[in-house]
Amino acid sequence: MTQRPYIVGNWKMNGSRTMLAEARSIDRAAQRYPDVEIALAPPFTLIDALREAVSAIGVGGQDCHAEVKGAHTGDVSAAMLADIGADFVIVGHSERRRDHKESNAAVRAKAKAALAAGLGVILCVGETLAERDAGKAEAVVGKQIDGSLPKGEGIVEAIAAARLAIAYEPVWAIGTGRVAAIEDVIAMHAAVRARLIAAFGDSHAKVRILYGGSVNGENAGALLAAEGVEGALVGGASLTADAFLPIIAAASRPID
Ligand code: PGA
Repeated sequence: MTQRPYIVGNWKMNGSRTMLAEARSIDRAAQRYPDVEIALAPPFTLIDALREAVSAIGVGGQDCHAEVKGAHTGDVSAAMLADIGADFVIVGHSERRRDHKESNAAVRAKAKAALAAGLGVILCVGETLAERDAGKAEAVVGKQIDGSLPKGEGIVEAIAAARLAIAYEPVWAIGTGRVAAIEDVIAMHAAVRARLIAAFGDSHAKVRILYGGSVNGENAGALLAAEGVEGALVGGASLTADAFLPIIAAASRPID
């Protein structure tokens, strides 16, 4: 059975309590699209309140620490996210790889910790513009996938339970208004799929591959119709219901 498209809003370092009203509007509208899985990842400060405010959509974090607890000032563990009712966490976002020098190994450890805590994981990968221009995009993303996919005990079960998604987000497309060409998106999603098949065998089908990078109400239809695109990770256009709902509508397929 094919899975529902997955549309996830990443609020990044945006959001105050007044924005809970947007989350409520998104949640109310989400009930009209049962064929789409919808979620929001607000900053840590709003997860608890947003969890209380919504019922139809998933709620997640934007990062987690790889350890369960301990002396890591300022960090939040996957177990702590699970404890306040989060459903999932984003790991390896390019802004974290850049701002916090997160390596593939660090991202893998976070993904593993999140799965062990019972959370879903959205693992992000993507090349820079210089890497794409040098013809290295697939090699770079392949290396990120191979280096950061969770491995080891309990992982196959978590994958089979559809708790892992990959977000392909070309770094140069994030927050820039520049979207990757559809044929490049299709090619990269196929390349990522090949890595997932190699890593997980038949269970690969349970891992959705999302596209991210300047997705909006205008381009979402074409992106989500592209072969191998099973959802979207949306930044700027997820901050208001008015901007986010057309993307959800684009993911919803008319029932035959
Ligand atoms: P953007 O961000 O939609 O604002 O480009 C996407 C992301 O970074 O997840």
